[in-house]
Amino acid sequence: MTQNPTTPTSTAPAAQLVHDGSRHADAWWRSAVIYQIYPRSFADHDGDGMGDLVGITSRLPYLRDLGVDAVWLSPFYASPQADAGYDVSDYRAVDPLFGRLEDAKAMVARAHELGLRVIVDLVPNHTSDEHEWFRAALAAAPGSPERERYMFRDGKGPDGSEPPNNWESVFGGRAWTRVTEPDGSPGQWYLHLFDPKQPDLNWELPEVREEFESILRFWLDLGVDGFRVDVAHGLIKEAGLPDWDAELHLLGAGLKGESTDRRPPMWDQDGVHEVYESWRRILNSYNETGDSAGDRIMCAEAWVTPVERAARYVRETEFHQAFNFDFLETHWHADKLREVIRASYAANDSVGAPTTWVLSNHDVVRHASRLGLPIDQPRPNGIGAEDPQPDTELGLRRARAATTLMLALPGGAYIYQGEELGLPDHTTMPDEVRQDPTWERSGHTEKGRDGCRVPMPWEADRPGLGFGPSEQTWLPQPESYRALAADQQAGVPGSTLELYRRMLQVRRELSMGQGSLLLEESTGDVVRMVNDAREARVQVVANLGTDPVDLPDGAQVLVASGALDGTRVPSDTAVWFTA
Ligand code: GLC
Repeated sequence: MTQNPTTPTSTAPAAQLVHDGSRHADAWWRSAVIYQIYPRSFADHDGDGMGDLVGITSRLPYLRDLGVDAVWLSPFYASPQADAGYDVSDYRAVDPLFGRLEDAKAMVARAHELGLRVIVDLVPNHTSDEHEWFRAALAAAPGSPERERYMFRDGKGPDGSEPPNNWESVFGGRAWTRVTEPDGSPGQWYLHLFDPKQPDLNWELPEVREEFESILRFWLDLGVDGFRVDVAHGLIKEAGLPDWDAELHLLGAGLKGESTDRRPPMWDQDGVHEVYESWRRILNSYNETGDSAGDRIMCAEAWVTPVERAARYVRETEFHQAFNFDFLETHWHADKLREVIRASYAANDSVGAPTTWVLSNHDVVRHASRLGLPIDQPRPNGIGAEDPQPDTELGLRRARAATTLMLALPGGAYIYQGEELGLPDHTTMPDEVRQDPTWERSGHTEKGRDGCRVPMPWEADRPGLGFGPSEQTWLPQPESYRALAADQQAGVPGSTLELYRRMLQVRRELSMGQGSLLLEESTGDVVRMVNDAREARVQVVANLGTDPVDLPDGAQVLVASGALDGTRVPSDTAVWFTA
């Protein structure tokens, strides 16, 4: 890598090949940039303050212009919305909040016309308690085939009044709820790793497996290109459901400082893999020509550590992709970023899978806010008005640099709606409007995820910032969203929106998603890499230190996350260049 001999960081340490892109055949999902749409908050067509499918369809040209390859939609299925749609009561129906099945078909067709693929969410770990199966289970007797579809158990103690084990719900409180039997007597308990309105299914039962295979086919027949699979690491529980004493976080292990080799009995059990092998066979069967352009894919939401365990989900016979949550969780430290990049490629390459980068989604504080918090503090589950507030300016500056680093990495990437506008979380939302079950279930100790789920600002001067035709928005938008509205940034040099557009354009033109990655070994505050792509060798400098660093003579800057000072890259800024 070219170095400027006058810079303090110029003692050129060796750049190491950490990923050889030439070893993989081209398939769209290996390098796709996929945009996550959160249907409740993307665009509202009918003016009820809740986003909908017609609203999404109307805004698809914006995503084509942004330059993404595909969209993933969080659930829009029939649901009582106890967990914002991750509690599904009918997997083959669209919730009236979001429209009709016809609207889903029209959305898919329009996306395809625009050259965008469509990935939908699949929630197999649990149904809603209002799903017909669960209603039937409550009406039936203990030991019945209806109960067998879920995780019903007798309670402990002489009268069964103690839960079957000590597991806690991810959202707080115990993971078991006791039912009243049809005859009015206190009865069995059912397991819910999440809300009581999300009973866990029994994935040992062939009938459950068959039902989900049929649901997969339903959506594939409707024309979708793939699935993002919710809680993919949770389906199978350790036999006997043994007690577990550590806290249960969404993020898999939840060991909270404890060191133990035991895996939590509810996560990442080996038995999950055969489920995904059967799904992969179904997906493969939908590619009639065998040309990779026809690949239907699945992406795992598996909060599994270490990366070597996570890589088991992306073996050739299972998922195509898995979110790289280790990357999302990495603090703003050059050495930690280098380490996670290296380890991610090593693990995924060992099974021939792409690495799928991600920084934000509907479950975490947006990276524009997260990176504005003091480094090295644990990642908060939501931020409230009385909590220490992120440094907005610093957060956005680092977020832009972090994304510039991320989109330079070969592999796939996910973008969460609104991050292309540099949106922060709503960090001063009144508690009364919170809807995430986490807030109530944690006894008001965890704010939860509403702050990252706020309706999109499209037009600064319209009611609801152009979210829909009325001024209603299901969660309030912070005043700071006005200046960040899409219409305030489109065409404005230096805006976050134009930065994303430029990066996606360059990444595509130079085939950077398929490149090889050389990473400079160094202990300094500057991450230096080369994406050796088919069309160019793109050099990347991300300056996480306080002092500026010089670009080499003759550097042609392709992308800069912030203003450069001549040829100097200031603190918390990342640059792509050729030399
Ligand atoms: C996943 C979803 C999250 C949901 C949970 C339960 O982690 O991303 O939003 O609450 O699963 O379905």
